[in-house]
Amino acid sequence: MNIVLMGPPGAGKGTKADVMARNLFVPHISTGDIFRANIKAGTELGQLANQYISKGDLVPDEVTLAMIKDRLAEDDCAKGFILDGLPRTIGQADALEAILAEQGKQLDKVVNIDVPEELLIARLCGRRVCRNCSQTYHLENNPPTEAGRCDECGGELYQRADDSEETIKNRLEVYRAQSEPLIAYYEQKGLLLSINGNQTINNVLMDIGKGLGQNW
Ligand code: AP5
Ligand code: MG
Ligand code: ZN
Repeated sequence: MNIVLMGPPGAGKGTKADVMARNLFVPHISTGDIFRANIKAGTELGQLANQYISKGDLVPDEVTLAMIKDRLAEDDCAKGFILDGLPRTIGQADALEAILAEQGKQLDKVVNIDVPEELLIARLCGRRVCRNCSQTYHLENNPPTEAGRCDECGGELYQRADDSEETIKNRLEVYRAQSEPLIAYYEQKGLLLSINGNQTINNVLMDIGKGLGQNW
């Protein structure tokens, strides 16, 4: 199954995508995670992307689209993928369609996780991420067993640099202006599955499963 997972910053895309990918035996491809891995490794791509990510702006298309084209061509995507964080503009959506068509593929579903804006800031400010394996926690909603330590691997938990209040505000503005129009775009194409993201993590996952015809 070829799936795009959409939603505003903090909607819970990464949290849900990890579980969905494990259940569907397909890779979870997060553009944000790929950029952050490159920033950590100090690559040229990471240095360039960081100039935009640190402000909450979108990384330029020529960089992002080339990166995702290569990633989708990898062998592990043959049976499907969960794409988290792309497309973020109508232009990226058109480009994604063309990239997939070149590979003889198309999207099966676009899952949009809908969360009221007033909840997003609290979700992002309380988020903590494992430095080692990228597992995501929340200080109140989904805390680790031991404070500051990852349940999965014991790694140190940190706060993402773009989870400061000022950067969050810009990310939300960028989302509203550039990404929200994708909801109507995919609805028109008959691909949209809209999910109420203002529920517990398990209930959101159950609704996504039902919508995709999966029993997880
Ligand atoms: P990216 O990493 O994709 O950030 P984002 O879209 O802002 O989304 P987040 O990762 O912040 O949120 P999420 O929806 O994954 O939520 P999560 O599951 O962590 O992108 C970062 C940057 O990279 C962008 O700003 C841009 O600069 C650049 N970029 C990326 N893609 C690009 C593209 N295509 N083009 C150009 N630039 C691009 O959950 C959030 C918190 O809530 C966690 O603490 C979690 O535990 C908690 N939580 C999750 N679900 C629930 C629930 N149901 N109930 C209660 N709490 C929950
Ligand atoms: Mg994410
Ligand atoms: Zn970990």
